[in-house]
Amino acid sequence: MKLVIAPDQDTACAHVADMLYTCCAQNPAAVLGLATGRTMERVYGHLVRRMHDRPVNLAGCTTFNLDEYCGPVARTAQSYRAYMQHHLFRHLDILPTQTHLPPGDTDDVTAACARYETAIRAAGGIDLQLLGIGHTGHIGFNEPLSSFASRTRRVRLAPATRTQNAEMFGDCPDDVPQHALTVGVGTILETRRAVLLATGPGKAAIIARVTEGAISPMTSASALHFHPDCTFVLDEDAAMDLSDECRWMAEFIPPRH
Ligand code: GLP
Repeated sequence: MKLVIAPDQDTACAHVADMLYTCCAQNPAAVLGLATGRTMERVYGHLVRRMHDRPVNLAGCTTFNLDEYCGPVARTAQSYRAYMQHHLFRHLDILPTQTHLPPGDTDDVTAACARYETAIRAAGGIDLQLLGIGHTGHIGFNEPLSSFASRTRRVRLAPATRTQNAEMFGDCPDDVPQHALTVGVGTILETRRAVLLATGPGKAAIIARVTEGAISPMTSASALHFHPDCTFVLDEDAAMDLSDECRWMAEFIPPRH
C-alpha cells in the first residue's frame, strides 16, 4: 500500500482528480470505478474543471459505480444515480449508456447483481477504482463481516452508516434506506489500481485502524492490504492518528493553490 499525505483537503482532492484525469487521458478506453459521498464532490469538481480546460475524448470511457440504495429511492433525487448526474456526468461528454450503477430498484436482485459483475468483466475490468471510506470502515457499502471474496449483492446498512448518510434524507437516519446494492470486496480487489481518499478529522480513527490495525472483515477497507496497487490519499486531518513509522513511509505532496 502507498500513502500520500496532502497538507489540506483541497490538495488531496485535486491529487485524486489528477489520477482520474490522467487515466482517461492515457487510455481512451479507460474503465473507471466511481464512488459517491461528500468527500468525492470536490474531486469531481476538480475533474470537471480539468476536463473543461484540457478536454479528453471520453467516447470510449466506461464507468461503474460502487453502490446504490435499494427500493424506489433509486429513481429519485436522493439516489446515487442522481448524485453522479449532478456532480459529474452532466458536465462531461460521456455517453449515458457507458455509465453504470447497480440497479437498486430491480425486482430480481440476484440476476441484476450477476449482470453487473458480467458487465464489469465484459468491459475488460476496472482500470482505476475510486474509494471513499465510511465510519464503519466500509468501502462501497461493504459493512462489517463482508467477506473478502464477496461480489455484487444486496446488503443491510449499519446504523452508523445510516447516520453518516442522513444529510440527503433530511438529517433523519430512519429515512435512509435500510438496504443497498454494492459491489463486493472481492470485486474491488480485482481492480487494476485503487485509490482511497479520506479527508477531515472525522476519518482519522478509522484510517489509523485500517492502515495499521488488524486485517479483518470487521473493517472491509483493511482488505486493501491485499490489493496489488492501492494508494491511500489523505489530508493531514485524516492522517493525524497514524504512527511515525507509518508517516515515514508516506509521500508528502505540496499545497495546491
Ligand atoms: C457512502 C458510500 C461509500 C463512501 C462513503 C463516504 O457511504 N456508499 O462508498 O465511501 O459514503 O462518505 P463521505 O465521503 O460522505 O464521508
